[in-house]
Amino acid sequence: MGNNGKLGADHHHHHLNGGLHAAMKRHSGGFPRLSASSKALVLLPLLLLAFIFFFVYPKEFELQAMMSACGPPGYTASSSSSSHLLADQPAVVRKPDFRLLIGVLTRADLYERRHLLRMVYGLQLASGDLPAHVDVRFVFCRLYKDDQRVLVPLEILAHGDVIVLDGCEENLNGGKTYTFLKAVAELYADEPYDYVMKADDDILFRLPQLVASLDGMPREDMYYGATIPCTSMDPFQEYMAGMGYALSWDLVEWIATSEIARNHSVGTEDMLTGLWLRLGGKGKNRFNAKPAIHDYLNPVPVDQCEHEFMPSTIGVHRLKSNPRWAEALKYFNFTAGLQSSKFYKFNSTSS
Ligand SMILES: *[C@@H]1O[C@H](CO)[C@@H](O)[C@H](O)[C@H]1NC(C)=O
Ligand SMILES: *[C@@H]1O[C@H](CO)[C@@H](O)[C@H](O)[C@H]1NC(C)=O
Ligand SMILES: *[C@@H]1O[C@H](CO)[C@@H](O)[C@H](O)[C@H]1NC(C)=O
Repeated sequence: MGNNGKLGADHHHHHLNGGLHAAMKRHSGGFPRLSASSKALVLLPLLLLAFIFFFVYPKEFELQAMMSACGPPGYTASSSSSSHLLADQPAVVRKPDFRLLIGVLTRADLYERRHLLRMVYGLQLASGDLPAHVDVRFVFCRLYKDDQRVLVPLEILAHGDVIVLDGCEENLNGGKTYTFLKAVAELYADEPYDYVMKADDDILFRLPQLVASLDGMPREDMYYGATIPCTSMDPFQEYMAGMGYALSWDLVEWIATSEIARNHSVGTEDMLTGLWLRLGGKGKNRFNAKPAIHDYLNPVPVDQCEHEFMPSTIGVHRLKSNPRWAEALKYFNFTAGLQSSKFYKFNSTSS
């Protein structure tokens, strides 16, 4: 509380927190000169008041501090003055229901797509109302070009959300998923996730819907996704489509160490994951999220994995171009909250 009342913006926070203390300090400098006895006369009731507040109603004080610490999302983190004030008041942090890692398997050269995905996931995470802890990481195999070896480090410095795998080549079915899951088991052994999701870079996940769906799932021996073949809704028939599927942590650990997975690591990646689990007798808990996880609906549908956007959509796949991303983001109201300002005139109600 060093800069009491110096910054106009601070006043608000002082009143929320040790309001009485701050008010006393502010006023003490401005008192007219008084005799010792009249000073005592003025100070005595103040001290009494302080005594009552600090010792008789300490709970009210805690409550006040808690209420100000739970302000609007991002409030504490974004305002340096309030975080300074709250430094000795531990913020009330709710334990997440579960922890989810989303590994977006992509290629180093797709800088523009990552920029889009960072916004899409960053905005959803920043809204701050997810009951789960979700981390999104971009996963490549070894960098193989000189420009990548500069531009990717730049990205890592700026965002810190990249995993570069050792021991795989960038090639759709060259064992990248196996290498990813094996690496994740080691990288996060000290602080495991409950679920690890493998996602493509052309799928949009709506995190609140995904988290709500996973929240009801068993935390172990669990295999979640959109069933293949497209005509089937039975998660035990074959496997989950590679667009985005989740495995519980115990299955990730098992895959990382299993000879079954090591012996079958190269091939159609999503099919292989299903094969490992079948050969290993794993994945007793399975959940088919179709149709909520679906492909983008083409004018002439190719198969039954395609579906139109729905309010209940969890994930839309095959967003291969910016116009498709724009269509999906508009439908799901990602930009609806933006108001026009003197800097830009957008009309979010028009198309
Ligand atoms: C994996 O492959 C090795 C070498 O071909 C073989 O000896 C072993 O039995 C296989 N293990 C499994 C579980 O398939
Ligand atoms: C988007 O917002 C509109 C207007 O508030 C609402 O009617 C619609 O249901 C929302 N769409 C989704 C997918 O939530
Ligand atoms: C915004 O769009 C709506 C619907 O198209 C239209 O009625 C309204 O006049 C527009 N407002 C502005 C300021 O352009």
